[in-house]
Amino acid sequence: MIETDGQRVPSTLREAALAALAASDLDMKVDRTNLACRMWFGRRLGLYGAADPAHPGRPGRPSEPVLVSPRTVKRRSVHTLEGRIALIHALAHIELNAIDLALDIVARFAPERVPRSFFDGWMTVALEEAKHFRLLSRRLESLGSHYGALPAHDGLWQAVEETAHDLGARLAVVPLILEARGLDVTPSLVEKLEAVGDEETADILRIIYRDEKKHVAIGAKWFRFLCARERRNPAERFRELVRASFRGEIKAPFNDRARAEAGLTPTFYRALSPRSS
Ligand SMILES: [Fe+2]
Ligand SMILES: [Fe+2]
Repeated sequence: MIETDGQRVPSTLREAALAALAASDLDMKVDRTNLACRMWFGRRLGLYGAADPAHPGRPGRPSEPVLVSPRTVKRRSVHTLEGRIALIHALAHIELNAIDLALDIVARFAPERVPRSFFDGWMTVALEEAKHFRLLSRRLESLGSHYGALPAHDGLWQAVEETAHDLGARLAVVPLILEARGLDVTPSLVEKLEAVGDEETADILRIIYRDEKKHVAIGAKWFRFLCARERRNPAERFRELVRASFRGEIKAPFNDRARAEAGLTPTFYRALSPRSS
């Protein structure tokens, strides 16, 4: 068998996704994600097989950054270089989690009764998250820092553990709550970065924003697909699943327009937010 970075060449998508998920070296994680994607779209991989390795549970991570409770991560102001580095570091950390979140959907739900295009969608997401992580890591380096230099919070993986049993719940929480939140907050971050003259970081965030709209749309499309199959009302089912599987806060204001463009209309989320009527 030919070897790449000491790893067996995968023969199934689940095996390829698990290899990327397990990688603790982050260059290797990105490379393996890219390889999984190339092989999948090149139709060189089956979907899953009996010889696939076991799911590692948690994704592979380097020894840094140190993971801390979300409350102890410092507030960030874009007015100082230090503040901008902290902001970009926090965003890079989110993107790294997003790579693993997409890979986990593919690996965990490979045996699910869904069309192949479901996996095309999530591998495209994994590839774009890997691109976002690399763009932000390089930006940190150009500012004299690097990913791992600051502590980061450990809240995101909880969503994975709480929705591991059910694809509908996973889609409700990961793309439709967590990624949709990115659509709400990114435009004002872009504006703040432009106001302090950091065009390079603003450009990266514009790329991320454009791609994230697609990710929410992919989530909404497959969530609606599952609901149609079960003859459920998607907005109602969404609220039910979120109440059962998501412990975080759902905060207004919402970017209703971007959310609607991605197929997530206010009937899905308005009633879940304490501050909206
Ligand atoms: Fe992303
Ligand atoms: Fe995303």
